[in-house]
Amino acid sequence: MTDFTPLGRMLHEEHIRTLALMNALDTRTTGGPGKRPIDPADTDDRQLLEETVAAIDEEVNRHFGFEEAVLFPLIADRGAGDMTRLLAQEHAAITPLGRRLSEVVVKALESGFDGPGWSEFREVAQELVDRVTFHLQKEEMGIIQRLPLFFAPATDRRLADQYAEHRTG
Ligand SMILES: [Fe+2]
Ligand SMILES: [Fe+2]
Repeated sequence: MTDFTPLGRMLHEEHIRTLALMNALDTRTTGGPGKRPIDPADTDDRQLLEETVAAIDEEVNRHFGFEEAVLFPLIADRGAGDMTRLLAQEHAAITPLGRRLSEVVVKALESGFDGPGWSEFREVAQELVDRVTFHLQKEEMGIIQRLPLFFAPATDRRLADQYAEHRTG
C-alpha cells in the first residue's frame, strides 16, 4: 500500500474514479455489448452517458487545469520538466477528444444514437479510454508516488488546500 500525501490522495482518488469510468466505457463499447448502441431510455445506459459528460468536465476543466497551471510548473522547477511537458502534451491530445465525445453524448441524450452516431461514439470512446488510461498510469508513477520527493509536507498540504479551493471555485 502506498502512503499518499494529502495532495496525492486527492488526485489519486480522482484518477481511480476516472479509470473506473474508462473501464465501464470500454466494456460497453467493445465485444458483444459494443454491437448494441447505448439506449438513453435504458437507466444504466443513460447513467453511463451522464457520468461520462460529468467526468469529462471534471477532468478537463478542473483536474487538468490545476495540473497545468499549478502543479506541473512547480514540478518542472524541481527538475522534472521533461516529464511534465509530456504529460501536458497528453492533456492537449485528450482534451479535444473529450470535448468531441461530450458533444456526441449530449446529442444522443436528446435523440438516441443512429448507426453513424454509435460508430463515432465507439471510435472516440476507444481512443479516449486508451489515452486516458495510459496518461493516468504515467501520472500515478511519475507524480503521485513521487510527491514526497518534490514537495516538503507543508507545501504539499498547501497545494492540497489550493486544489480543494480550485475544485469548488
Ligand atoms: Fe491527473
Ligand atoms: Fe493529467
